[in-house]
Amino acid sequence: MCGIVGYVGKKKAAPILLDSLKRLEYREYDSAGIATIDGHFHVKKEKGKIAEIDKTLDLADMPGEIGIAHTRWATHGVPSKKNAHPHLDSFGKVAVVHNGIIENYVELRNFLKKQKHFFTSDTDTEVIPNLISYFIRKGKGFESSVREAVKKLRGSFALGIVSVVEPDKILVVRKDSPLVIGVGNGETFLASDIPAILPYTKKVVVLEDGELAILAKGGVVVKKFETGKIVRKRPVAITWTVEMAEKTGYPHFTLKEIFQQPDAVQDTLRAAPEELKNLAKFLLKAKRVYLVACGTSNHAALVAKYALAKLADFPTEAVISSEFQESCRVDRDTAVLAISQSGETADTLKAIKIAKSHGAKVACLTNVVGSSITRESDLVCYIFAGPEISVVATKTFAAQVSFLLLLASKIAELKGLNSKEFEKDLNAAPKIIRSVLSEVEPKVKSLAKKYKNSRHIYLIGRGLGYPIVLEGALKLKEITYVHSEALPAGELKHGTLALIEKGTPVIAVVPLGESRARMVSNIEEVKARGATVIAIASKDDEVKKHAEEFVSLPKIEELLSPLGYIVPMQLLAYHITVERGQDPDRPRSLAKSVTVE
Ligand code: F6R
Repeated sequence: MCGIVGYVGKKKAAPILLDSLKRLEYREYDSAGIATIDGHFHVKKEKGKIAEIDKTLDLADMPGEIGIAHTRWATHGVPSKKNAHPHLDSFGKVAVVHNGIIENYVELRNFLKKQKHFFTSDTDTEVIPNLISYFIRKGKGFESSVREAVKKLRGSFALGIVSVVEPDKILVVRKDSPLVIGVGNGETFLASDIPAILPYTKKVVVLEDGELAILAKGGVVVKKFETGKIVRKRPVAITWTVEMAEKTGYPHFTLKEIFQQPDAVQDTLRAAPEELKNLAKFLLKAKRVYLVACGTSNHAALVAKYALAKLADFPTEAVISSEFQESCRVDRDTAVLAISQSGETADTLKAIKIAKSHGAKVACLTNVVGSSITRESDLVCYIFAGPEISVVATKTFAAQVSFLLLLASKIAELKGLNSKEFEKDLNAAPKIIRSVLSEVEPKVKSLAKKYKNSRHIYLIGRGLGYPIVLEGALKLKEITYVHSEALPAGELKHGTLALIEKGTPVIAVVPLGESRARMVSNIEEVKARGATVIAIASKDDEVKKHAEEFVSLPKIEELLSPLGYIVPMQLLAYHITVERGQDPDRPRSLAKSVTVE
């Protein structure tokens, strides 16, 4: 959940580390710190956001051409200066930044205390520099001390390690936590995520689990940390530009990414066919298919489940990753399609491992090349939506949905069903999203002003409208902090109706299709309890007469409705957040990649 970066080269390390940290800040942000070496360690760290810390500590003003840095989201120990990384060992020999969790840290801490090491933080991380320095003090070199120490760690870790005993290199280790190495000209970088180092290099080496890399000015050497055996790796070229990862004139990444949706969908639809046929065949071979994902990716999976059933007569089950172990029957005839924007979500990775251990075959759909999920899967597909910086997923939802709709159409084709017409409609999706974006914003802004202080917002939909409102409610919750609850409109009468009272805002999503008429009855049902209904429907839809507020959309074919109908809700969440004076790019308590279970 934390972000780590590192630099070794000919330039002053601290300004580069600070810049990279800022690019990673979307990951975590309760504290941050930098350690450089120039004869001895220089360390600056504090609780708070990087900009605030920089104001008081002047983070760029540190000597040395080698260093590591960290931005933290607390797991063990509250956000505080003493718990902020980098952590040093008791004898000032080793500094470490860590993303992940050390499960056996209590045991290791007790052992080290007996060896005269002392601890100043509440973190699990602090055992790592101490364990390494324990081996250094026993006479081992830096690299072998790191290898010995790492073998004793249980849990997940991406580590950046520097030592005053060999101050010209950074050692990097990876197990179950993301990590990339950037190869520059006379300089080498490390980061938890690619955007952090994009301005400096586009050549990236992705470290696999169980590997250790030695970073020096002149380049990188990768080894297995168990055996020390060298692993030869070629850097991959990253095609993202720095501008792609920056705001390009929008006040927030969230808004920029909402408006990037037509392009993201276009790119997905262009690139998808390459792997699509293989994926379709892969799923058709199985007796049972699970679509496994969390959060927004789960909502895309629910859309896929619906489309696969309706268009391709292909039943599947959409399962939340953390429920997979308890609720699913898995065997050799099972196929899992894991969907994850980041490719690093711990719950999804765990579900994959469980599925594989029962003999199931696993395919994945992700946005991040070389992410952990891709290495665990038998078949890998990408959405190619470009970097998503904002914590809330927007354009990657649209890209996932587009890919999965195309998959449904491919499976239909392979089963001899007619899907040509639908494929033609799908190709028009970028144009549809573009027209929604250009039409709805003024209305949505006025709604945001009116409803920004609501205590509760309910959202109802039927059929495909249900995953759409689930995703809409998630956006509202994540950034506005207004309690938002989505439910299938038919479920209202089974309980939630009791909460609807005079003035309660209810958003009703009414796409074209068979559920339309029944949605009108549900709208009347909540109105009878005093609700203020905000309907989202096609321009000429009669629903307008039944609602207090109406968001008018162009005519969108039912199966494509998630791509158009989600847009006003993304924008509503964004504008309410701004109206409330909150930062949509940095929602409290949330992380972009949830790399802990
Ligand atoms: C919602 C959001 C999260 C993620 C979830 C899964 O805006 O960002 O709910 O969708 O954490 O993340 P991935 O898709 O990276 O596995």
